[in-house]
Amino acid sequence: MKTEILKPTKENINIAAGSIRKGELVGMPTETVYGLAANALNPDSVKNIYSVKGRPSNNPLIVHIADFNELDKICYINDDAIKLAKAFWPGPLTILQYKKDIIPDAVTGSLNTVAIRMPSNKIARDLISMSGLPIAAPSANKSGRPSPTLPEHVYKDFNGLIPYIIDGGQCEIGLESTVINVASKPYTVLRPGKISIEEIRQILPDVMLSNNILHEPSPDTVPESPGMMYKHYAPNAKLILVSGDRFNVAKKINELYNKSLIENSRTKILCFDENAYLYPDKSFIKIGSSKHHEELAHKLFALLRSLDEMGVETVYSEVADLGGIGLAIMNRMIRAAAFNIIDVDKIK
Ligand code: TXA
Ligand code: MG
Repeated sequence: MKTEILKPTKENINIAAGSIRKGELVGMPTETVYGLAANALNPDSVKNIYSVKGRPSNNPLIVHIADFNELDKICYINDDAIKLAKAFWPGPLTILQYKKDIIPDAVTGSLNTVAIRMPSNKIARDLISMSGLPIAAPSANKSGRPSPTLPEHVYKDFNGLIPYIIDGGQCEIGLESTVINVASKPYTVLRPGKISIEEIRQILPDVMLSNNILHEPSPDTVPESPGMMYKHYAPNAKLILVSGDRFNVAKKINELYNKSLIENSRTKILCFDENAYLYPDKSFIKIGSSKHHEELAHKLFALLRSLDEMGVETVYSEVADLGGIGLAIMNRMIRAAAFNIIDVDKIK
């Protein structure tokens, strides 16, 4: 199969919608990351998503809709979910509710809840509307790889495996949606994203944060969300995060860098713009201002992919503050680093 990247004209979106109706998979831009879109009501199409991604079949998919009226067809919607949907949809929030039978088990990994999102991206909304279907779509990356924020990323992972990718340019946010379980109490944020816990608590004050957002779930617990269990976002390079006071962080990173240079020459440092001067004569990449994490969110996944293209073997990185979108950045970076983090303030 030849994979075509389509300009997002009405005509082309209609062609892609037809392809979804036929049971095929399409690369779909959204405001968060690109999704691998399929008819959520067709178990064979959904199984094909797992197969081309190499995704474990017990890691459920998000169902995307473009119209509030769809909700009633796919889940038993409760009042609190309606409050969240009214506040944040269309947008980067995914809401878990108890599923109705129309949603195949293949979508939910046989769980009794279904994750639902109404994206704000115009192309995604047109594609969903024109297909006339609820659309199952995970991030359009091979399982374990950084999520795609450009059509080229989708092409790299799925060339020859899907007929179309719609070119929506670079994704506005760059990190996947916030996932919240409001099917049963305690309501819990399972994956942080652009919509922060602080914003959500303005609507539902008692929402909790899952303990596994910054910590590795122990293998013997039942995870609240299967996606938490898997290695994610990982570049081929070994990534080591260093947290703490910025001067102590720089001292530690310089030390580690010098040591690793003796072993291999392909070492990089990721640092905030204002700290670059702390790494004289080193090979560093600036990751934006430490005061405004939106820029880092926007480019993080592309950066992780580019490290692989540069053939980098070891990366030492500064870390984001945890407020606002910072928590979502850390959630992704800590997984990309396989939970390899050094807290310099704790080392005596
Ligand atoms: O921004 C996004 O959410 C993107 C775009 C394409 O919409 N999609 C995305 O999908 O990130 P995916 O499959 O890469 O991540 C979905 C996450 C997984 O961690 C999965 O385990 C969790 O949502 N999830 C889905 N359904 C669930 C359910 N019923 N219960 C618990 N977790 C669920
Ligand atoms: Mg994903």
